[in-house]
Amino acid sequence: MDILQKEVLYPKDVIKKRVQELAGTISRDYEGKELIVIGILKGAFIFMADLIRCLSVPCRVDFVRLASYGEGPSSSGRVVMTKDIETSIKDRDILIVEDVVDTGLTLSFLVNWLKERNPHSIKVCAFLDKRKRRRAPFEADYVGFTIDDGFVVGYGLDFNEKARFLPDICVIKE
Ligand code: PRP
Repeated sequence: MDILQKEVLYPKDVIKKRVQELAGTISRDYEGKELIVIGILKGAFIFMADLIRCLSVPCRVDFVRLASYGEGPSSSGRVVMTKDIETSIKDRDILIVEDVVDTGLTLSFLVNWLKERNPHSIKVCAFLDKRKRRRAPFEADYVGFTIDDGFVVGYGLDFNEKARFLPDICVIKE
């Protein structure tokens, strides 16, 4: 039973167009190179799957599992890694793919974690950017949409593990 009251913020056709635009920009920026695309589980899996299929540069993929602790709409500020990458990234060009930047703590943690392994470059592509809630001064290199401080679900994003499967990005109504 669907008990979440929600309204569509970005429908799937708008999402598809924006993903194609992002992939076009990224493909131009990395022309002639091979990317290692690292997705942050779980939220990024749908966006990453769509994005890499629109790239015109080759890529390899890997994943980390990070969670900012606590259920519900606010983060405690503690980032926990339960799965690391399995690929060597030394001297490689890395693109981290994330569903949403919120406080910025998750991505700040991951960028610092990966820098220790001496990649050639690291950039971040986030589908959504909630700028108003930053606690770490983090800027993504590629952003799909900048949004206000609502609680969004769908296209990989969850509310207590519900609603990741929705094809649209929706806002939960108070
Ligand atoms: C969410 C989201 C990002 C992170 C962003 O993950 O998917 O990874 O929080 O928050 P931050 O910028 O405040 O750190 P969550 O911990 O809910 O896990 P999930 O990806 O499995 O949903």
